[in-house]
Amino acid sequence: MHSESKPAVLPSVLFVCLGNICRSPMAEGALRARAGALGSGLDLVVDSAGTGDWHVGRPPDPRAILVARRHGVDISGYRARQVRVVDFRRFDRIFALDHSNLEALRRLRPAESGADLSLLLDVVAGRAGQDVDDPYYGDSGDFERSWAEVDAAARAIVAGLS
Ligand code: 4NP
Repeated sequence: MHSESKPAVLPSVLFVCLGNICRSPMAEGALRARAGALGSGLDLVVDSAGTGDWHVGRPPDPRAILVARRHGVDISGYRARQVRVVDFRRFDRIFALDHSNLEALRRLRPAESGADLSLLLDVVAGRAGQDVDDPYYGDSGDFERSWAEVDAAARAIVAGLS
């Protein structure tokens, strides 16, 4: 007999931005890395999606792949997908990267969904209510800032779950 057992259903986290090629894949990579870095690893279901469909099936933006790689995380195998109504049943926690995507998710959310929907930076002390700004039209410094923000959130999520 084990004195401790794992929960039957793993905690599940979905990150949602607009294109699913910059911010939310970085958030997914950062959380996978932070959860995996714990002693025995933290079992989680982690995914990301976009509210838009322009980039479905594509890998993350090369600049997002590069910044993740600089931080030791390989996100090159991720492929963009669009968020679906069923995601509100599959995930316990859905994090929007900014207010505009939070609004889009509120419109999509079925009334009976028990998923906890919030802004990603709400989990970071001193950053509640703030957006992870879209770095798509920015430069590598903007991607570095986005990484620092999603990684701070990933650390806070792991701390809350472990
Ligand atoms: P993301 O960035 O939402 O962080 O993936 C964007 C990627 C593509 C576009 C906008 C934002 N776009 O307009 O194509």
